[in-house]
Amino acid sequence: MSDDGYRLIRPTKPPRQQASYISYILAMTQKIPVITIDGPSGVGKGTVMLRLAHFLGWHTLDSGAIYRVLALAALKHQIALDDVAGLVKLAAELDVVFQAAPDLSGVQVILEKTDVTSTLRTEATGEAASQVAVIPEVRAALLQRQRDFQQAPGLVADGRDMGTVVFPEAALKIFLTASAEERAKRRYKQLKEKGIDANLTNLVKEISTRDQRDRERATAPLKPAADATQIDTTELSIDAVMAQLMTLVATHLDAVATD
Ligand code: C5P
Repeated sequence: MSDDGYRLIRPTKPPRQQASYISYILAMTQKIPVITIDGPSGVGKGTVMLRLAHFLGWHTLDSGAIYRVLALAALKHQIALDDVAGLVKLAAELDVVFQAAPDLSGVQVILEKTDVTSTLRTEATGEAASQVAVIPEVRAALLQRQRDFQQAPGLVADGRDMGTVVFPEAALKIFLTASAEERAKRRYKQLKEKGIDANLTNLVKEISTRDQRDRERATAPLKPAADATQIDTTELSIDAVMAQLMTLVATHLDAVATD
């Protein structure tokens, strides 16, 4: 055992590829690493999280989906979005399963045995999620459920307070930003590609309202952790963002692995 209680077993034949080598060492030392990706809605956190997790072979946590599922469950059970006691009880009993889609195209969300994957991503659900997310007791009730995702060999978690509240000890913290107009444009493009009708002006308004609520709430507001690396993605392609992240991952995780 080392001083900090981690079991130090050095592999004799590490896998060659750097990412899996680092994951391997971290798993062997039983330190389950977390990378947090926080930022406002529509900034591309989800895409970055999936690419990074795929590259590292790690688990993912889409924490926004948990708030979205709670909001959907509240609407289903006719619990008002400001009914603190009702929402806390619902959060404690929430019957939700995140599972790989049968065609492996992404994650399917099953609420009380019903597939809610497509309803989950609508702006209306995002807006309802942001209302329940303001309530400190609701956030507390969902905290452990999020921490349970920290499993070997590692976790990439995206949200608003991953680096500040849920995983303050994360090995690497990223905070993505982009202008509201740029984020609305990306959302507009995504919706159009899915054949869903959308209005760009309304999207800018919806995104700005949700951002403001997320930034100004008293508990776990949207803000970068003091030790987060901020990346403004307004002018960057997803590949350019990934290139910056890969450099950060290599330096930060290497440091954790050889602690
Ligand atoms: O990320 P996504 O748009 O799915 O999140 C929906 C809403 O859930 C956000 O607008 C925010 O209010 C809330 N949320 C949060 N904390 C997180 C993730 C999401 O408050 N970690």
